[in-house]
Amino acid sequence: MTIESVTAPEESSEEKGLETTLRPQTLPDYIGQDNVKQNLRILITAAKQRSEAIEHVLLHGGPGLGKTTLAHIIAKEMGVNIIITSGPAIERTGDLAAILSNMKANDILFIDEIHRLHKTVEELLYPAMEDYALDIVVGKGPAARTLRIDLPHFTVIGATTRVSLMAAPLLDRFGAHYKLDFYSDDDMIAIVLRSARVLGIEMNTDTAREIAVRSRKTPRIANRLLKRVRDYAQVHHNGTLTADVACSALDLLNVDSLGLNSVDHKLLHCMIEKFKGGPVGVGTLAAATGEEVETIEEIHEPFLMQLGFLMRTPRGRIVTQAAYQHLNIPYTSSQQRSLLE
Ligand SMILES: Nc1ncnc2c1ncn2[C@@H]1O[C@H](COP(=O)(O)OP(=O)(O)O)[C@@H](O)[C@H]1O
Ligand SMILES: [Mg+2]
Repeated sequence: MTIESVTAPEESSEEKGLETTLRPQTLPDYIGQDNVKQNLRILITAAKQRSEAIEHVLLHGGPGLGKTTLAHIIAKEMGVNIIITSGPAIERTGDLAAILSNMKANDILFIDEIHRLHKTVEELLYPAMEDYALDIVVGKGPAARTLRIDLPHFTVIGATTRVSLMAAPLLDRFGAHYKLDFYSDDDMIAIVLRSARVLGIEMNTDTAREIAVRSRKTPRIANRLLKRVRDYAQVHHNGTLTADVACSALDLLNVDSLGLNSVDHKLLHCMIEKFKGGPVGVGTLAAATGEEVETIEEIHEPFLMQLGFLMRTPRGRIVTQAAYQHLNIPYTSSQQRSLLE
């Protein structure tokens, strides 16, 4: 993993094992997202009381906020099997038919990145989700017939980082939509302390806070930084982990005091130096910095907006005064004028 990717919210392949160890197993163990948890508790309890499959659930939120974790928790709380797949992994309708025809009553099918389902697969999913039936076409031309196969009542849990890319009919088939938000500082501290406990790392709240506030309000990044800080403490301080040690370790990783990484800095500096702080369109910004539009929209912008460093207007993105302050760049009246023009 490079220094850059230490604050990338996507899961790296070497992290799969660690993520499983650190994953909360029950709803009470899942920190934060209280509204989502309360609603899920009702959904799960009601379905269990009726001995039914739970409604189809769509989980929407940025990478690393806990969608996959929540899907596993739902399955565990329901006491049912969970079958894991993803939009791009289901290449043909036959693949989906094979998965669905093997499912048992009340089982959960978790489809990650559901916005990337192939169109034909998606169309087969509609009747499966709505009527618990598979419509399979047999034969070709005038002799073709549709064969309907009944399926047991099952649940689809879909996860997506880009709900805007989902077709309306697919969205309509989910009875419950939950959006996962960035975590508060207090929740992030609790997550760092919990992960430290699971990994057997001794840590006080001040040290946890140092890691928490630099983790982009994202549990996956907190877990990763925790590991890096532990390594640093082991190599340089005989394993003694204090807030100061955490601070030096994170400085060395180029994670600034609020969790901004070098790409965030590059984007803000580019907007300030080349575009007088904006407004600037995302396409222009991507071209000027050499970053992908998708990465800017999915990863950097939501976080910078959450910090109040970036604003979106119909004419493009604008850097706020708070960002100038954080970067120690004077915010001049000409910038204010260009905002008002
Ligand atoms: N609410 C939470 N409480 C504690 N840890 C969490 C929480 N949400 C996520 N995590 C941790 O963050 C990691 C990434 O979560 P994951 O569910 O894989 O994110 P996503 O699927 O949204 O990308 C997991 O290993 C898990 O340990
Ligand atoms: Mg996931």
